[in-house]
Amino acid sequence: MKKVITYGTYDLLHYGHIALLKRAKALGDYLIVGVTSDAFDKNRGKLNVQQTVVERIEAVKRTGLADEIIVEEYEGQKISDIKKYKVDIFAIGSDWRGKFDYLNEYCQVIYLKRTEGVSSTELRATKNPLIKIGVVGIGNPTERIIQESLYVSGLEMCAAYDEQNKKLSAICEKYNITAYSSLENMLQEMDAVYINALLPKHDILIEKALNFECHVLCESPIFMNRSDADKLFELAKKKNKVLFEAIKTIFFPAFEHLMLIVNSGIIGGIRDIEVSCSHIPENLEEIKGEKYKGSMYDWGSIALVPIIKILGTEYERCSMYDYESNGFNYFVRGLLKYKNATAVFKVGKGIKTEGQMIITGTKGYIYVPAPWWKTDYFEIRYEDLRATKKYFYRYEGEGFRYELLEFVKMINQNQIESYYYSQREMKSIIGIIEQFDGGKVEKLNFDL
Ligand code: CTP
Repeated sequence: MKKVITYGTYDLLHYGHIALLKRAKALGDYLIVGVTSDAFDKNRGKLNVQQTVVERIEAVKRTGLADEIIVEEYEGQKISDIKKYKVDIFAIGSDWRGKFDYLNEYCQVIYLKRTEGVSSTELRATKNPLIKIGVVGIGNPTERIIQESLYVSGLEMCAAYDEQNKKLSAICEKYNITAYSSLENMLQEMDAVYINALLPKHDILIEKALNFECHVLCESPIFMNRSDADKLFELAKKKNKVLFEAIKTIFFPAFEHLMLIVNSGIIGGIRDIEVSCSHIPENLEEIKGEKYKGSMYDWGSIALVPIIKILGTEYERCSMYDYESNGFNYFVRGLLKYKNATAVFKVGKGIKTEGQMIITGTKGYIYVPAPWWKTDYFEIRYEDLRATKKYFYRYEGEGFRYELLEFVKMINQNQIESYYYSQREMKSIIGIIEQFDGGKVEKLNFDL
C-alpha cells in the first residue's frame, strides 16, 4: 500500500484545497492529512486563521478524501510523521516548491500544481473588509507597532497625525502612509485609531474618535480615572465600537499559558505575587520634567496586569511609596492586600532592579525571569528541586502583532469585551493609577 501525506491549515476550506487533496490522494492508496494546530500557526506567525483546529479538521473530514487526519503541532514534526506512518510520498502545493526538498531523504517529495485564483487569505479578506487604522501620536512605540502591523492581515495602518508634528513626515514617508495635519480629517477617513499620546489627553482623543465612529486601541494606561473609564466605555457600547487598552504582555503565548497554569491549581492556592519592571531610558534628562512619563504612568498598568488577572479585581487596600524628585516619579513600591493574599509591585524609571515575577503558592511557586513582561520562558518550582518544570514558548516579533490581531478580531466579531483583558480588569488597574495620581501615596525623596 502506497501512503501519501500532506499538510496545511485548511482555513475556510475552498476548492483549491479540495483539488490538492484529490491530486494527493490519486498519488497512492492511503492519504494522511496533517492539519496545523492553532498554537503552531500562531507560533509560526500565521496569525489570521479564522477557524479553530476542530473546525478545520471537521471540514477536511467532510471532503471524504482523507483516510487519516493528524494534527501538526511543532516544527520538525514532518520527519517524525513520515517515519512513524511509513509514508512513501510527501505531497504539497507548488507554492512550497523547494522548501521541503530536505524530506527527500525520508520519502519521495512531490510538488502539486496550486489552483490559481483562490486562497484562504483572499477568502478572509472578502469575509472581513480591510480595517483602516490611523495613528494618533508619533512616539515610542508607534514605529514598532507600524512595523508589526505589516504581519497582521485584515488591517492597514495607513494614516498618522501628531499634534506637535514631531517626526510625522519622516515616519509617514518611511512607511508610505498619509500624514494628516487635522485629526478630524483623519478620523473621517478611518475605521479605527491607535492612540499613543500623553495620558491627560487620552479621554478627549478617545471621545473624539468614538464620535467619529472609529474603534480605538489606546496605549496604557488607557484612562486617568475610573469616571473617564465608565463614561467612555459606555459611549463605546452605545456606538458599538471596540475600545481597548494596548498591553502587549497579555498576548504573549507564554503569559497566556502562565495564566492557565496558575488557574489549574498546580502550585496550590496563590498567596503572594511579586512583580518588578524598571528601566533607565537614554533620554532621562530630557523627560525628567514630564510628569506623565514617570514610572507609575509608564509601567504601572503592565506591572499590575498579572496581579489583577491572578488575584482578581477585589483588592481591599493598596498602599504605595512614591520616590520622586521635582514632581517626577522615579520609583514606586506598592502593596496590595486581598482577603487571602498579598502582592508587591515595583516600577522604576531612572532606577534599575531585577525585572522578574514570582507567584507564590501553597504547593510551589512560579518564577518568571527578567524581563517577565516580554516573557517566553518560566519555571514551576517545588520543594523538591527535581520536580522543577520548565516552559518555553516561542513568539514572533515584539508581541505587538498579537495585540493588533486581538483588536482586529474584536472588531470583526463585533465583540466589546476581550477574553484576554476585561473592562473590569482595566478599570481596577485604572483605580490604582488614579489613587497614585491623586497623591494617595507616601512620598519619599528620590535624591536623598
Ligand atoms: N493550495 C492549493 N491551491 C490553492 C490554495 C492552497 O493547491 N489555491 C494547497 C497548498 O499549496 C497546500 C494546501 O492547499 O498544499 C493547504 O494550504 P493552506 O496554506 O492551508 O491554504 P492557502 O489557501 O494557501 O492558505 P493561506 O492563504 O492562509 O496561505
